[in-house]
Amino acid sequence: MATRLFEGKEHASYYQKFRFEPSQEILDLIFSYVDERLPKPHEFAVDVGCGTGKGTRMLAPYFKKVLGTDISVAQVEEAKKELGCPNVTYSICPAEGVPVADASVDLLTASAAVHWFDIEKFLKEVNRILKPGGCLAFSSYLFHMEVHYKDRSEQMNNIFSNVEDILSPFQHEKVNHVKTGYKEIFEAIPYTDKKRIESVITKIQIPLAGLLGLIQTFSSFQTYLRTEPEKAKEMIKTTEQRFLQIMGTSSIDTEVEVWLHNILVLASKPK
Ligand SMILES: C[S@@+](CC[C@H](N)C(=O)[O-])C[C@H]1O[C@@H](n2cnc3c(N)ncnc32)[C@H](O)[C@@H]1O
Repeated sequence: MATRLFEGKEHASYYQKFRFEPSQEILDLIFSYVDERLPKPHEFAVDVGCGTGKGTRMLAPYFKKVLGTDISVAQVEEAKKELGCPNVTYSICPAEGVPVADASVDLLTASAAVHWFDIEKFLKEVNRILKPGGCLAFSSYLFHMEVHYKDRSEQMNNIFSNVEDILSPFQHEKVNHVKTGYKEIFEAIPYTDKKRIESVITKIQIPLAGLLGLIQTFSSFQTYLRTEPEKAKEMIKTTEQRFLQIMGTSSIDTEVEVWLHNILVLASKPK
């Protein structure tokens, strides 16, 4: 049974606004791996669990065609609103059944998504659709991130840790895959050519409003909101006030630096 935590329209529009696309560091690691294994030009990439397509569109310059797939109608509707990549199309379907031909895909990506899938069925599907030598790249950033602001980073991180503690009981058990750095998923990949890279750190400058928006995209926050709406909204308000107080500003447009800790799993199907 698929885990359906990303169906709401409002959640999808928050996604489009506040989630980050995979960083250039992650893309560089993916492409140096792919380029060593497959001849150029690369033909076809599929981004599974594409959400609003932020990562999907980043693949567009590197492939003749790119397909983004997701089980959530609301997420794919948001993705389709973004124009400007004529070689990118989207499909609403489960990750465990992607509507493409056998042995047709050069690169299959899943960004902040693979942990939601039925891993056994999904890996069988990956094996069906990858070309010989085709690659997979599963990435995610950890829920735990660092928040830096001038000489106030310690206090900023304490506030963020407090948010983590509040949301922790609302986290789905599948998020444990992320917490353990995708170890179990890595071990389940039936290829010998594979590697797992931890601690790729991406530093992003965003306004405080963006950080508060990001927190609201977390599936654990959405579960909190459904279960205890008043408390969830209050937590965001209180968190905003605490951040502003520590930063000594009244503007939520003030920029903070967020450090994302990423995991990346790469593998290639035997030729
Ligand atoms: C955390 S979001 C990541 C979205 C996007 N890749 C990104 O990086 O912003 C996870 C996505 O996986 C999708 N998803 C979850 N289970 C799925 C499944 N079994 N098949 C296809 N998509 C699924 C959700 O609908 C959601 O859009």
